[in-house]
Parts: sequence; structure tokens; C-alpha cells
Amino acid sequence: MIILKNYPLKRFNSFRLNAYARYFVRVHNVDVIPELIYKINSKLSKFCVLGGGSNIIFRPKYDGWVLRNELLGIKVFKENEDFVWINVGAGENWHNLVRYCIDKNWGGLENLSLIPGSVGAAPIQNIGAYGVELKDVFVSLNAMNMHSGQMEFFDLDECEFGYRDSIFKRTLKNQYIITSVNFKLSKKPKLNIEYGAIKKKIEEKKLDQLNIRILSDIICEIRTGKLPNPDRIGNCGSFFKNAIIPTAKYNYLKTVFKDIPSYPTDDPELTKIPTAWLIQECGWKGKNFGSVGVYKKHALVLINAGNAQNEMVIEFSDRIIDSVLEKFDIEIEREVTIY
Ligand code: EPU
Repeated sequence: MIILKNYPLKRFNSFRLNAYARYFVRVHNVDVIPELIYKINSKLSKFCVLGGGSNIIFRPKYDGWVLRNELLGIKVFKENEDFVWINVGAGENWHNLVRYCIDKNWGGLENLSLIPGSVGAAPIQNIGAYGVELKDVFVSLNAMNMHSGQMEFFDLDECEFGYRDSIFKRTLKNQYIITSVNFKLSKKPKLNIEYGAIKKKIEEKKLDQLNIRILSDIICEIRTGKLPNPDRIGNCGSFFKNAIIPTAKYNYLKTVFKDIPSYPTDDPELTKIPTAWLIQECGWKGKNFGSVGVYKKHALVLINAGNAQNEMVIEFSDRIIDSVLEKFDIEIEREVTIY
């Protein structure tokens, strides 16, 4: 195990912020984790697990251990005529997994194409896009308890998934390192094309044939059309969550803001409002604050417009939160995690 000190994290966070980890370790093998736990606990240090770094804003100095999860492997552990169950190392790149499954004609992940990040990070925030969430294909995960050094197993219910949320963002935050994730995929894929933007693309292209590969390509096209490529412009995808507010409040807001868009939720008492719209209405779309900006094609995305400083990103996002609160009386939340 190689322990690197004062290690630069710029390459390891998709916002491309300058930050340093006091200690940095690449975890390639589950067997090294007990030694790591001993070292971290004996120094009473804090730690964070890093996947693709696509949902993280680091403060300039992380005074603890950054553990880069590089546990790899994709294995089939069960199959029948209709389904296949796979176990995937948490360090695998998410989009590579999606493409791998498409090549095998295993359906279920195609709507989640091109989401940046790693497999191990996916359950933490229950990634979702275009009508599908991770929980729809998730079976269970294996994770090491960072206090006891024991491997533990979490099934669907135990993960307590919600909208961009799981138990690993709440009561079990920073207590586990996810080592692998188990998925159930379909050998006879059913396509999920209900999302408006997908329907529109299918009509535009006058497609008479559709399969998971074509659907994945459509989704990649929609995403690249409106979201910045993190290899060129530093960003974390959606910086904020969509807002979920009482339906009664939405009905009132609608009398003042006639065009306010909304989506129903599973609970009729609650309504989802696209935060991108709230931010846009506050006039932030395409605006810069020093070297941080709101992306010109999508108001939910903050970008590194130069050499953005960590504290400035946080301050800018605070200003956006304040202005949405002032105008709509809605307290929007960051989707990204700040370390
Ligand atoms: N909108 C605006 N202004 C904008 C962009 C969007 O007003 O600049 C409004 C429009 O009314 C639009 C609505 O927002 O119809 C929804 O926009 P979009 O379809 O782009 O989806 P989103 O709610 O902004 C969510 C996820 C994305 C995911 C898309 C597609 C969250 C926080 N974000 O975005 O996930 O790709 O749906 O399903 O739930 C991510 O999490 O990083 C991410 C990109």
C-alpha cells in the first residue's frame, strides 16, 4: 500500500478545483482496507472515499485520508432465461459499465448513460436520469465498515433510497467504503421512453426501430447537447437537487408565477419543481461570479469558468440559494458534497 502525502486532487475532482489531501491512497484490493482502518483510527483522522470525483467540492486542504476506490471487476453470479445478476467492483467507471451491459444486450442501465462517476458512488446518491433511478436495477451492495473492519451487506430496503439520497448520505455518512454493487438486468429489455426529451428525439429522428443501444445513443446526444463535458469545462453535473415542496405551496406559487413548471411525486401532497427554472428566473443563467459560472445551456449546472477557487464556488452557490429563497420562499439544496 502506497501512502502519498499532501497529494494534489485537481485531477481527481471533475470541477477541477485545486485541493490537497493530507494522505492519499489508491485502494485496488479489499485486503488492504483493514490496515488502512487501523492507520486512520490510530491517528484519529477523518477520511473520505473518492470515486470519479464528479459530485464533490473539496475545500483547499483536506486534513485527512482520501481513499480512491479503484476496486475493479464485473462478474455474473446468477442468471436464468430472463435475467442476469452481476457483481461490479465499486471503482469501475459508471458509463463503461453501461456500455458493457449494452454490448451484452442486458437492459436496465441504458437510461443512465453518460452519468459521470463510479459504480460505488452511484448508490450513495441513487443516481437517476430520464425516468430511471439506480434503485430500479439495484439488488444489494457490499461495504466495509470503517470502524469494525467487517464486510457488511445491504439490500435494497436497507439502503433507504430516496430522490438523490440513501442511508449513506445520512445516518451512515462516511462510515463505510462500498466495495461492490449487485445489479439485476434483463435479457429481454423493456425500453423506458416515457421521458419527454426522449420521445421528442425519437419523433425528430423518425426512428422505426429502437433497442437499448439506440436509446443509450439518444440519451448521450441529449446530455451532450445541454450538459458541459467535464473533460473540457470543470463541473459536477447538477449542482443542486430539484425542489420538492408541499403541493399547497405550489398551488399558491402558480397564482403568482403562471409558468412555473412542476412534476408530480409519489406523494400527492408533494410537488417537484425544477430548480433549474427557479435559478433561471432569478437571472443567474449564463452569469459568472469571478471564475465560477452558471452554465449558459442549463441553469442547474455550475462551471469552473477559469481557475475557480473552492471558497468562491461555495459562496456563489450560497448566493444562488439565498436569491431563490428570497424570490420563491423555497430553500434549494446542493446535490454535491462539500469536503
Ligand atoms: N429548465 C429550466 N432552465 C434550464 C434547464 C431546465 O427552466 O436551464 C427546466 C425546464 O422546465 C425543464 C426542467 O427544468 O423541462 C427539467 O430539466 P432537465 O430535463 O434538464 O432535468 P433536471 O431536472 O434539470 C434532472 C437530473 C439530471 C438528469 C435529468 C434528466 C437532478 C438534480 N438532476 O435534471 O441529473 O440528467 O433530470 O433526467 O435531479 C445530475 O444529477 O448530475 C444530473 C445531470
